[in-house]
Amino acid sequence: MFVTSVCTTLLLLALGATAKKPNILFILTDDQDWHMQSLEHMPFLQKYLVQEGTLYTNHYCTVAICCPSRVNLWTGRAAHNTNVTDVFPPYGGYPKIVHEGINSNYLPIWMQDSGYNTYYTGKLWNAHTVDNYNAPYAGGYNGSDFILDPYTYEYYNAWMSRNGQAPVSYKGQYSPDITAEKAYGFLEEATQHKEPWFLTVAPIAPHSNVKLEPIDAVDMDAPKYAKRHAHLFKDYRIPRDANFNPEKQGGVAWVKTLPRLNDTVIEYNDEFQRSRLRALQSVDEMIEKLIKTLEEKNLLEDTYIFFTTDNGYHISQHRMHPGKECGFDTDIHIPLIIRGPGIARNRISDAVTSHTDLSPTILKLAGQTREDFDGTPIPVYEQEVLAANNNRNSRHEHVNIEFWGMAIPEGQYAHYDGGPSDGNGLYKDATRNNTYKGLRLIGEDYSIYYSVWCTGDREYYDVALDPGQLDNYFDAEAEATRRGYSIAGRSFEEVVNRLDALMLVLKSCKGRDCVEPWSVLHPGGNVKTLKDALAKTFDAFYEEQPKVSFDSCELGYIKELEGPQIPNVYDDGEERLELRGQPSFKYQGHWSLFT
Ligand SMILES: *[C@@H]1O[C@H](CO)[C@@H](O)[C@H](O)[C@H]1NC(C)=O
Ligand SMILES: *[C@@H]1O[C@H](CO)[C@@H](O)[C@H](O)[C@H]1NC(C)=O
Ligand SMILES: *[C@@H]1O[C@H](CO)[C@@H](O)[C@H](O)[C@H]1NC(C)=O
Ligand SMILES: *[C@@H]1O[C@H](CO)[C@@H](O)[C@H](O)[C@H]1NC(C)=O
Repeated sequence: MFVTSVCTTLLLLALGATAKKPNILFILTDDQDWHMQSLEHMPFLQKYLVQEGTLYTNHYCTVAICCPSRVNLWTGRAAHNTNVTDVFPPYGGYPKIVHEGINSNYLPIWMQDSGYNTYYTGKLWNAHTVDNYNAPYAGGYNGSDFILDPYTYEYYNAWMSRNGQAPVSYKGQYSPDITAEKAYGFLEEATQHKEPWFLTVAPIAPHSNVKLEPIDAVDMDAPKYAKRHAHLFKDYRIPRDANFNPEKQGGVAWVKTLPRLNDTVIEYNDEFQRSRLRALQSVDEMIEKLIKTLEEKNLLEDTYIFFTTDNGYHISQHRMHPGKECGFDTDIHIPLIIRGPGIARNRISDAVTSHTDLSPTILKLAGQTREDFDGTPIPVYEQEVLAANNNRNSRHEHVNIEFWGMAIPEGQYAHYDGGPSDGNGLYKDATRNNTYKGLRLIGEDYSIYYSVWCTGDREYYDVALDPGQLDNYFDAEAEATRRGYSIAGRSFEEVVNRLDALMLVLKSCKGRDCVEPWSVLHPGGNVKTLKDALAKTFDAFYEEQPKVSFDSCELGYIKELEGPQIPNVYDDGEERLELRGQPSFKYQGHWSLFT
């Protein structure tokens, strides 16, 4: 009896000692690339985050544009479930976020519910403006200082609202530096209280400099940088990778028909990336100061630091003007670094992760979970990272990519035929018909990108063989390649049948089914990877699946025009038995999804 109570007391003491939840510092840049070496040109990020933390080399956004990607990130739900699919109304932006109930149901609110004080500075959403910042106020923050539209991307003309007060102009000051100053202030404030804190810092760098007004003459140019960084990167050039302004163009739909960029544009584009790298130096300096401050306050060992961006970026790859919105790796494959207690130093995680997973991850660090997540916590602690690296099958191998709307070229030479885009002059150089579903699959023996477009086009890149994603196996002239191709001894056609069924599940999945999509097709649970699904016994099942398709190209998520929604479910003897008896909860779950 005595022994038991001593043990209980010790246990309670131990629990008490660990009861203080960790702090979270989240740094979110805007449009930062992985494929043009931006990380290598941030020395403090290298020193304090990469070398002291874990770098996730297979991390993806699921929608390659700011607002939908941020909604995905801060809700842990896929874009087809948030239905925030654009930057501006009717399909996106702050009014749509409010309309969808997200302003009162997203990570900062859940963190407050978990006992955290929450702070945010920088850009929160698009169409969050000097007029609607108080109608309603952005939910979930104890302290906030938001950069507001229509001035969000004017580097020397920010307007910001602090704690709900009337917006203030910062004309003439450098936006990322202002955001940094506000971050230091909130860090000071957060550490005055006994509660754990969650601070997000979201500078606009290295997004383009954009003047949204007048609306019929929107001007997008390279980002502006602070004078102190003007001398840097004079010799930098965008890597001349295989997909850099290629002689033979790949891609489909509007991408396929792009003309090659001339030398004037290439030169402009190199300077464009130099400007982005310079703009990122302000972020890099901020990283050092935030780390030093945490160190001085003796908080480094109690704080997780996340670094990522909302989506990637391309410049000159695939003959494209500066921009995003594509399913190529340049646009979806992005940096993620985490440092903090229990996290390995200077380690690489190659687990397949996405922004859908970050809210579940952060909430788990805060000791909570939710049922409505479409993602799952990522491996964070050293042992988890090692276990996932050593056993690829311990975690899913897919990322579900979605996009609705236009492709918007940025920069002074920006022009794509395909407009007029939306009738009011905004994005006059954009192209429509950029609506597609994508599937990025990274398994033990394969690395694939598969897509189905609203135009009926399809893409298949073997990214292991063709990292530049230039050889689309659906091209008419790729016939011989298709014939000679196999994965696990199975033909191209059999592989594509599997991918199509997987995409059919993912494009309308909810909750656990988004994490374990094969179990929707094979409720028996014996198929967990593409390789498993390629077994010959399943050939007829996959041939007969309804195929992913669109009725037309829309600028938003109009479900009725997006083809079949319900996959066939594989029914083997054992599963039939299970069905005749008591249907398992899991099985019922799958059906309720489609009704
Ligand atoms: C932060 O906001 C939450 C939710 O409104 C509140 O419960 C908490 O007391 C606030 N913290 C401080 C320090 O005011
Ligand atoms: C290069 O291309 C741009 C954009 O199409 C065009 O404006 C410019 O005139 C071209 N320059 C030359 C030298 O052809
Ligand atoms: C866009 O796609 C539709 C099919 O939905 C097609 O009729 C139209 O020609 C396409 N427009 C362009 C500019 O490619
Ligand atoms: C998504 O939102 C748009 C705009 O409000 C609406 O037209 C559409 O029906 C919605 N889609 C779904 C699947 O709810």
